[in-house]
Amino acid sequence: MNQVHINLGERSYDIRIGAGLLDHADTWAQLPKAAAALIVTNHTVAPLYLARLQASLQAHYAKVHVCSLPDGEAYKTWESLQLIFDELLGQACDRKTVLFALGGGVVGDITGFAAACYMRGVPFVQVPTTLLAQVDSSVGGKTAINHPMGKNMVGAFYQPERVVCDLATLNTLPQRELSAGLAEVIKYGPIADMAFLDWIEQHLGDLLARDPQALAHAVQRSCEIKAHVVGLDERESGLRAILNFGHTFGHAIEAGLGFGVWLHGEAVGCGMVMAAHLSQRLGLVDAAFTERLTDLIHQAGLPIVGPDLGTEAYLHHMRVDKKAEAGDIRFVLIHPPGSAVVRGAPDALVAEVLQACCQA
Ligand code: NAD
Ligand code: GLY
Repeated sequence: MNQVHINLGERSYDIRIGAGLLDHADTWAQLPKAAAALIVTNHTVAPLYLARLQASLQAHYAKVHVCSLPDGEAYKTWESLQLIFDELLGQACDRKTVLFALGGGVVGDITGFAAACYMRGVPFVQVPTTLLAQVDSSVGGKTAINHPMGKNMVGAFYQPERVVCDLATLNTLPQRELSAGLAEVIKYGPIADMAFLDWIEQHLGDLLARDPQALAHAVQRSCEIKAHVVGLDERESGLRAILNFGHTFGHAIEAGLGFGVWLHGEAVGCGMVMAAHLSQRLGLVDAAFTERLTDLIHQAGLPIVGPDLGTEAYLHHMRVDKKAEAGDIRFVLIHPPGSAVVRGAPDALVAEVLQACCQA
């Protein structure tokens, strides 16, 4: 097992990374003591991994309750949150109850938000089972649900007690979801570590074939970079925004098409292509960088041409992005490769990028 520490003072915790961790007794030792635990999962993940997590947790908690949600981004809603509160209150769970998020980023984000709210805050543990959740969403304490008018618009910063990445769970992931996770892995290269981008290019075939060593390295290095950034700027007063490379365009694609039509990672992949083009048009990177990144995203099985929502719709969705200030869109741009800046850009230039990057 490997470990990455995330240093946040009294909110510090470890990310544990290894194959088979679900079944290891040690994985669940030294978590907050409580009479009960609640596992939140969904109807797809439950048949695969719920029984194993339940069996492990029964050694630590007298009662292990379960709340299984419908699957999908379209269910990252108030209604799903309410199902969790119904279960917690229906089972008379007290304020020490520990929540376990077993699933991808959707389950993780909803469960974290439920934990932040229930009785004004109960402990929770992230047990991510998608590549995307292991390399990004389970780490760093951003929790949220969607609003029909915007992605992740209602939420809280709330850190987990621990993150447990069982790499073996990635074996059952559909290939499209693996590619979606690779988008967030690729992201870390341009914003923070070009040597990591070189490594991803060299090992893309291994990653797509789920080579255990390649996946272990990708998860470990991604978590190290994310832990470093979050450790410096937990609540995104500045630096942390670089983790949103590709997300300004990407969130517009998700909201514009309707949540769940494109996967989050697909929208981020295509959004990184658009953000690279915008960086290039502003003179921050050269054409070779844009081509290199676009090629890698394509080779990873991700879309590189955006849906034709129309420029006005893109601009509208991007104006409600959380980084926007007084209606001015702020983009994460690469300058130079290996580091990122957050800044505005003229609408006319953004329109040119959208015309170049979207299906006619
Ligand atoms: P997801 O949670 O929808 O999971 C993808 C699909 O894989 C689902 O159908 C799920 O049921 C299934 N699945 C999960 N684990 C599986 C397994 N081991 N085997 C087979 N199927 C499995 O999507 P995701 O890509 O994990 O996460 C995307 C979400 O994460 C978005 O809502 C996004 O906004 C959020 N996110 C949050 C942060 C953050 O910092 N909090 C960061 C990035 C993304
Ligand atoms: N995924 C962006 C962040 O955690 O800040």
